[in-house]
Amino acid sequence: MNSPRKDWVLSIRQLFCKQFKVTIASSIRRAHIRARQVGVDANARRPAVVEPGAIDVLELDQLSVGYDRAPVVRDLTLTVGPGEVVALLGANGAGKTTTLRAISGLLKPAGGVVRLSGQDLAGVSPTARARLGLAHVPPDRGIFFGLTVAEHFRLDGTEMDAAIGHFPALRALRGRRAGLLSGGEQQMLALARVLSRRPKLLMLDEMSLGLAPVIVDRLLPVVREFATSHGTGVLLVEQHVHLALKIADRGYILSHGELAASAPAGQLSQDRALLAASYLGETGGAAS
Ligand SMILES: Nc1ncnc2c1ncn2[C@@H]1O[C@H](COP(=O)(O)OP(=O)(O)OP(=O)(O)O)[C@@H](O)[C@H]1O
Ligand SMILES: [Mg+2]
Repeated sequence: MNSPRKDWVLSIRQLFCKQFKVTIASSIRRAHIRARQVGVDANARRPAVVEPGAIDVLELDQLSVGYDRAPVVRDLTLTVGPGEVVALLGANGAGKTTTLRAISGLLKPAGGVVRLSGQDLAGVSPTARARLGLAHVPPDRGIFFGLTVAEHFRLDGTEMDAAIGHFPALRALRGRRAGLLSGGEQQMLALARVLSRRPKLLMLDEMSLGLAPVIVDRLLPVVREFATSHGTGVLLVEQHVHLALKIADRGYILSHGELAASAPAGQLSQDRALLAASYLGETGGAAS
């Protein structure tokens, strides 16, 4: 039996714990309210690493895919976690675009599994994949040269002013046809459109095509910040390898359609010999 003094100490302790829980709960609530007021997601500040136990947004398990039954990519296994930026690197013809096209459902795999947030995408159409949160910007940027900037957002059913938050330069260009925009402006339009959909997985194929490195260096940090703040996983194919590795968490190197190396971005960017060899298509060993 507890003594009256013990009971008194216990009830003080219970009261303290209850008050402590209430204080924590109301702090969390206040953080969410504050976040709504400034227009950001309260859960957005997650670190750019995969938390233990978090489901990967993208999982490729032994993916094989090609054209006319000839395999181009063989047994590729890779993951992209929420909020992670992953670079997919390799020489011309290594199979990077082919991999992205298989993920978005434009090519049917010959083997293996593609999962989006744990869901097997076999038999799911490209349109349905887009609805599930998969966004793919192809090398041609997927924009319509005959439509104006504003018409693109109308077509998407998105509010232009909200969508171009990251790219205020687009505001003055709202009435200009996309075909008349500079390469950098076209890329801003493509990114603004795709980011406004808040995808779970964003795949960017040669975002830098035709752009000066200085422009790429300005666009890539927007992608990095978006991934971190929205928990979007990004699979990045980029010829400006060092710029890509500057914002990426990890990288995979494809060589002749097979995984040649995978390592944290910092480690890859320091391994000049490995990077040079991978771009000449000569890589043989895995960095990790
Ligand atoms: N439609 C197609 N039909 C047949 N083969 C194709 C087709 N598209 C690509 N290939 C071949 O598949 C291989 C991989 O091409 P892919 O476009 O995936 O390479 P990549 O790594 O994206 O190269 P790059 O850096 O030049 O864009 C190449 O040998 C290419 O010739
Ligand atoms: Mg390509």
